[in-house]
Amino acid sequence: MIVDQDALEPKKQPPRELIVHRNSEINTLSSIFEPVTNGHQTSGAFIYGPPGSGKTCAANVLLNEIPATTVTENGTSGEPIETAYIDCYNGKSRRDVYQELLETLGEGPAQTRPSAATDQLRRQILDAIDGHLIVVLDEADQIGEKDVLKELYEMTGVALLPIVTKSHQLFADAEDRLDSRLTALTPIPFRSYDESTLVKILQARANVGLERGVVEREHLQIIAERSRNDARRAISILKNTVLHARSEGAGEVTTDLLDKGSPMSQSDVIRSHLSAISRSQRICLEVIGKIGPETSGPITDSYCSDMRIDEERSQRAIRDWLSDFKTRDLICERDVQNGPAYELREIVQQVLDGEIEP
Ligand SMILES: Nc1ncnc2c1ncn2[C@@H]1O[C@H](COP(=O)(O)OP(=O)(O)OP(=O)(O)O)[C@@H](O)[C@H]1O
Ligand SMILES: [Mg+2]
Repeated sequence: MIVDQDALEPKKQPPRELIVHRNSEINTLSSIFEPVTNGHQTSGAFIYGPPGSGKTCAANVLLNEIPATTVTENGTSGEPIETAYIDCYNGKSRRDVYQELLETLGEGPAQTRPSAATDQLRRQILDAIDGHLIVVLDEADQIGEKDVLKELYEMTGVALLPIVTKSHQLFADAEDRLDSRLTALTPIPFRSYDESTLVKILQARANVGLERGVVEREHLQIIAERSRNDARRAISILKNTVLHARSEGAGEVTTDLLDKGSPMSQSDVIRSHLSAISRSQRICLEVIGKIGPETSGPITDSYCSDMRIDEERSQRAIRDWLSDFKTRDLICERDVQNGPAYELREIVQQVLDGEIEP
């Protein structure tokens, strides 16, 4: 029934031929970073778009296609080009980012530099860059100290590619938006997938991953409709349905099996979103679970009085989180008299309570 399990695995980077529809974004990315391959500087770019729109996937394609060295005018190999992929989920600090970069640059693990000051780590990176360095900062909005972005941007030889959900998240506040440094990064929007694109993504996975006839196009259409424009969700539903069909001894997917496959993958998707948010954001979610439905003011007050937090947040910052939680489908919004009120989705509460086991 299953020919290639990797093709059904949302956590695995797919081979280039399984990536459908994102050619124009990937070509734009390649053209922005191409000067580096000829030994020149680029102003870099940033990707933004909703969850499951292929941002991480596209950035990985770019990194995989970057050659190991620049090419000189007479066609010979020039300076080395290093690449680094840093996942900033769970709120990385400026120090964490530098430590990870040093490790990528071959300077050994963080434990070998326990007492080095963060500024010293920054200087060490400059010394370690031997040519060019392209840095992807995935989930860059999770970085606690945004200054690290500007510092990296200003390093000679470094080209940046941060990834965020919403374009404004790259800039910590209004003042940053006026800061000309990061605004030089070219924005590359990743629009959410429509259902027909999701069907194409699923069909490509099914062609490679499944025996012929295991899943019909009409079932892929139903999966697409249930996926809320999110390719991760779509692939996850397909995988769970097929695994469920196999465990039931069925030779093909049916609508009934599909119904049983969907709730399971919803919790998979939620779990992956929960692992992508910071500890502080998770505390905020738990606060919403306790007091919701509630508007942003009382949520901010309860959050700030929670014993577990290490830093108070402004209502504006909490509103940004609420918008992120909504995009990730972790909370829902209701209109009440004094503005929108937020509450945790029931399934999120169940996952947080551990009622739904992985
Ligand atoms: N155009 C595509 N063709 C094939 N597979 C895709 C495509 N876009 C996304 N996928 C797959 O969908 C899943 C989610 O994609 P990805 O992780 O790149 O999303 P994302 O935009 O980074 O989401 P998030 O904001 O949650 O990190 C991955 O398994 C990826 O391989
Ligand atoms: Mg991603």
